[in-house]
Amino acid sequence: MKQLLVLEGSPRRGGNSAALAGAFCAALKGWQVERAAVCTMKIRGCAACEQCWTREGKPCVQRDDMNDLCLKIEAADAVVFATPMYYFGFPAQLKAAIDRLYPYCKGNCPRSIRGKRCFLLTCGATSEREEFDALLENYRILARYVGWEDMGILAADSLYEKGAAEGTPWLAQAAALADRLAGGAS
Ligand SMILES: Cc1cc2nc3c(=O)[nH]c(=O)nc-3n(C[C@H](O)[C@H](O)[C@H](O)COP(=O)(O)O)c2cc1C
Repeated sequence: MKQLLVLEGSPRRGGNSAALAGAFCAALKGWQVERAAVCTMKIRGCAACEQCWTREGKPCVQRDDMNDLCLKIEAADAVVFATPMYYFGFPAQLKAAIDRLYPYCKGNCPRSIRGKRCFLLTCGATSEREEFDALLENYRILARYVGWEDMGILAADSLYEKGAAEGTPWLAQAAALADRLAGGAS
């Protein structure tokens, strides 16, 4: 069975990005889904020590949750970034995990995360669409850089309070994106 990994970037449990992720996952049939609450994990920033793969063949010498998350990312066929926008970018905790993909982008990398499909589900309080531009471009360039195929983006605006996504058309739009993985199950 194909595996979907959802990287959830909000420290607010049950918030708007979680609602978007929930709608996406509920619509996805025939896939094994794992939702990883990245914001509750202990993941430090990259130390730029250049010691990738040198400790027991693990991606990183730091002893935190990232090496386990790396295994989940490697195993996934598709990855969803489900995250609020913070200051026009990814929240710091999710950005730390992204930075820690560094071991896979080096010449001595014995394992691969390339060849996946990916989505971005994000939300913000703003009603100004261009305020999402930097985050969306960051996601697109990241996907290209790590060798993932962008399958779709949803940037849900005007969502501030917890629960604001409920009853909005954004949820149906998130669910519709999941259809793009249909036919890929098995
Ligand atoms: C630290 C912080 C930074 C934020 N920065 C932005 C921002 O730059 N633009 C925006 O539209 N909303 C911003 N917001 C609002 C959140 O993106 C918004 O409330 C979102 O719906 C939260 O999603 P969640 O419920 O999944 O956490 C920020 C919120 C916080 C707490």
